[in-house]
Amino acid sequence: MKNLHTTLGALCVAVSFGFVAQTVKADDWASLAVKRIKSPPLGLPSVPIPADNQVTKQKLELGKKLFFDSRLSKNNALSCAGCHIPDQGFTNNHVATTIGVAGEFLARNAPTILNVAYQRTLFHDARETTLENQVYGPLLSKLEMGNPSIGWIIQTINGSEDYWGKFEKAFGEPVNVRNIGQAIATYERSLISANSPFDKWHFGKQQSAVSEDVKLGFKLFKGKGQCARCHLVKPNTALFSDQKLHDTGFVTAKKNADTGRMGVTGRGADKFRFKTPTLRNIALTAPYMHNGQLKTLASVVAFYNQGSKRDNKRKMPVLHLSDKEQALIVEFLKSLNGDNVQALIIEASKP
Ligand code: HEC
Ligand code: HEC
Repeated sequence: MKNLHTTLGALCVAVSFGFVAQTVKADDWASLAVKRIKSPPLGLPSVPIPADNQVTKQKLELGKKLFFDSRLSKNNALSCAGCHIPDQGFTNNHVATTIGVAGEFLARNAPTILNVAYQRTLFHDARETTLENQVYGPLLSKLEMGNPSIGWIIQTINGSEDYWGKFEKAFGEPVNVRNIGQAIATYERSLISANSPFDKWHFGKQQSAVSEDVKLGFKLFKGKGQCARCHLVKPNTALFSDQKLHDTGFVTAKKNADTGRMGVTGRGADKFRFKTPTLRNIALTAPYMHNGQLKTLASVVAFYNQGSKRDNKRKMPVLHLSDKEQALIVEFLKSLNGDNVQALIIEASKP
C-alpha cells in the first residue's frame, strides 16, 4: 500500500481522505480531549503524563465509561461521578462532605477533578502521588464505593458484556489491576479548564476581559491579602497552588479534629497541615475547605482576614482587609472559571 502513495494521484486521494477523516473527528469528544491535553488552554502549563501511560482515544473512552459506571460500587449505586458531579464543578455542591455506599458521610469534602492532572499529590493530606494509583482509594474504601477487593472489581468488569474487548483495544491486554487505574487517570487528565476571564486579561493581555474590580482584587490577592504566597501565580501560567501543605489555622484543636497530614505521617509538625487546593473554577466548587465548612467565598476571605488567632506558631497574619477589599478579592476569585466548563459537562454526558 505505502508504495502506491508515491504517485501524485494516490497522494491527492490520501490528502482528501485525511481531510474527511478530520471533519468527522471534530465531533468526537475523545479526539477533542486528546487535543486539549496536548495543547492546554491559556493559563495552564503542559500536562504531565507518565511515560508508561500515554494518552489515547481508546483509553479516554474507557476511562470515562469507568468513571461514570455505578456498577463499580458494591451496591451498584455509586460511580466516581456520583461524588465528583460534572455539573456541580466535578464535586458536590450540596453537601459539606460526600456520602458513600454505606450511606455515611465521609470526613472530607470532595475536591474537584477539574485540573487534577496538575496535582503532584492527591487527597487533602497528599497521601497519594499518582492518579493511576489514586482510583483504588475510593474503589476499595468501605465508606466510598465499598468493593471488597480488586479481584471483585475485575470480575464485575469481566462479567459486563459492554466492556468486552475494550481493555484489549485500549491496552492490548485484558482488564487488570494496573489498567483500570490507567484508563480512569487518562480520562481525569482530560478535564483541564482555563482560558478564564482572568487568563484572558492577565496572560492574554485583553484589557476588557475582566472588570476593574477584578483587577483590583488580583492586586490585593498578591499584595495585602498575601494569598499568592500559597496560591501561586507564575509568569506565564497559574495553578493557584504551591502544591505544598500548610496549616492555615482553619482547624481548631478539639477532640477528633482532622489533623490532616499528621494522620499520614504521625509527626506532630504535620498537625493540621492540608494541601493547598487550586483556585481555578473556585466559584463552581462550593462548599470550601477540606471539610466543606465554609459555604461562600466571602466567608473564606473573611476567615483569612482574621489571621490565626489561636496560637502564634501558625504563621497566618491578621490581614486588616476592609469589607470593600474583601469583596474585591471575591470578585477576582469569580474570574477564574474556565471557558470550557460547560463543554466538559456536555462531553461528560455523551456516551
Ligand atoms: C463517596 C464519594 C466519592 C466517590 C464515590 C469518589 N470520590 Fe474521589 N474523593 C472524594 C473525597 C471526599 C475526596 C477527598 C478525600 C481525602 O482527601 O481524604 C476525594 C478525592 C479524590 C481525588 C483527589 C483530588 C485532589 O485534588 O487531591 C481524586 C483524583 C478522586 N477523588 C477521584 C475519584 C475517582 C477516580 C473515583 C472513582 C473511582 C472517586 N474519586 C470516587 C469523594 C469520592
Ligand atoms: C499559608 C498558605 C495559604 C495562604 C497564605 C492562603 N491560602 Fe488559601 N488555602 C491554603 C490551604 C492549605 C487550603 C486548604 C485548607 C483546608 O482545606 O483546610 C486553602 C484553601 C483555600 C480555599 C478553599 C479551596 C477549596 O477548594 O475548598 C480558598 C477559596 C482559598 N484558600 C483562598 C485563599 C485566599 C483568597 C487567600 C488570601 C486571602 C488565601 N487563600 C491564602 C493555603 C493558603
